[in-house]
Amino acid sequence: MLSRENNEALTRVGPGTPMGELMRRYWIPAAYSDQVAKNDGPPIRVKLLGEKLVLFRDTKGRLGLLEEFCPHRLASMFFGRNEQEGLRCVYHGLKFNVAGECTDAPCIPPTHKEQIETAKRNLRMKSYPCIERAGLVWAYMGPAGMEPAFPALEWTQVPDNQRYTTRHVQECNWLQALEGGFDAPHLTFLHRGGETDASRDFVPSFYEVMTTDFGFAIATGRDTGEPKIKWNINIMLMPFHKIISTQPFAAHMWVPVDDENTMLYSIDFRPDRALSQQELERAKGGDWIHTENIPGTDHALRNRDNDYLIDRELQARGDSYTGIKGFGTQDCAIQESMGPIVDRSGEHLLMGDAAIVKLRRLLLQALRDHADGKPLMGMDPESYRVRSTRCEMPRDFDMAAHMGNLVRVEKIAAQ
Ligand code: FES
Ligand SMILES: [Fe+2]
Repeated sequence: MLSRENNEALTRVGPGTPMGELMRRYWIPAAYSDQVAKNDGPPIRVKLLGEKLVLFRDTKGRLGLLEEFCPHRLASMFFGRNEQEGLRCVYHGLKFNVAGECTDAPCIPPTHKEQIETAKRNLRMKSYPCIERAGLVWAYMGPAGMEPAFPALEWTQVPDNQRYTTRHVQECNWLQALEGGFDAPHLTFLHRGGETDASRDFVPSFYEVMTTDFGFAIATGRDTGEPKIKWNINIMLMPFHKIISTQPFAAHMWVPVDDENTMLYSIDFRPDRALSQQELERAKGGDWIHTENIPGTDHALRNRDNDYLIDRELQARGDSYTGIKGFGTQDCAIQESMGPIVDRSGEHLLMGDAAIVKLRRLLLQALRDHADGKPLMGMDPESYRVRSTRCEMPRDFDMAAHMGNLVRVEKIAAQ
């Protein structure tokens, strides 16, 4: 369990909140690049960390990520005209460039030169720097001039045909979703049925969590009765990334839309070759692993409104523990069922929650370190060259001492 106060500190992400301010120190995915593919094309709405924004690409191909509302009378710039190096509000014609500066004020008569100049000087929209990597637009929403170098995440560095990205909205707080991603014992239950891995029949007996230069390494060991312990080492890279040691590899990002909604990005990738046709089909959704969206939206087809199309017969037959199709949908169903922001002061934690408890403690420490101006994890882009991994180790192996090293990409490649 967690005190109400700590629960608030870890979950709230709006401007001025401790977690919100910490997250704003990192690059945050805002949209697919192809949503704003064309110069002077239509702007799109984006919501990140509780802030309503618009994203557009100007005449020269530069990206503008501005607050959504025009500073004049607060009309939405989503309806704006994207023309000649700026986005023009259609209410009274004020125009803003990608830096958020007012460049034209045609609603003031041209004879009133001074008023025009004053308006241009004073009317300014909040604007955030953007870069494009791996088919996504990434925003930096932190203090001006302090953006870190872009992290050397392996999946962002492979050619486009070695990667496939999907996303869907999860209707709950980001931490609830992320905790689900690092909850090892649930694999034995929630996801039983469909494609499974026999070692998952055993719940973990050992848990280790440690702070690293990129974030956290979380090891869970299963005792299957054989001489060696089967370890999974999963990594949480600041501020919301996970790499999964499947084939192909997968990456997740739990990006807070606001306190009660999370955009889960899922990326299937191979460092060695293009994704095969079969791997691509799988990544696109509709099978046991991936989540299928309502066409043209980021909302899952199987969602809270239709009880995730639970099939009670399937559940009764035992073919599926939940009767819900899709691992991602099973996660959504259960994480959303806890309410938009679960009150962790009401929990009754058990042995299998050890990793989650440690992770929360370390995240709280990260908040304190940030408040104290101490160096942050993940500021060195090279620290992101890591993978989750699996290994079998003798019972007396000191996992805590070695796990930080075992996840280095060079180390895994050399095995
Ligand atoms: S509200 Fe935008 S120009 Fe008036
Ligand atoms: Fe899960």
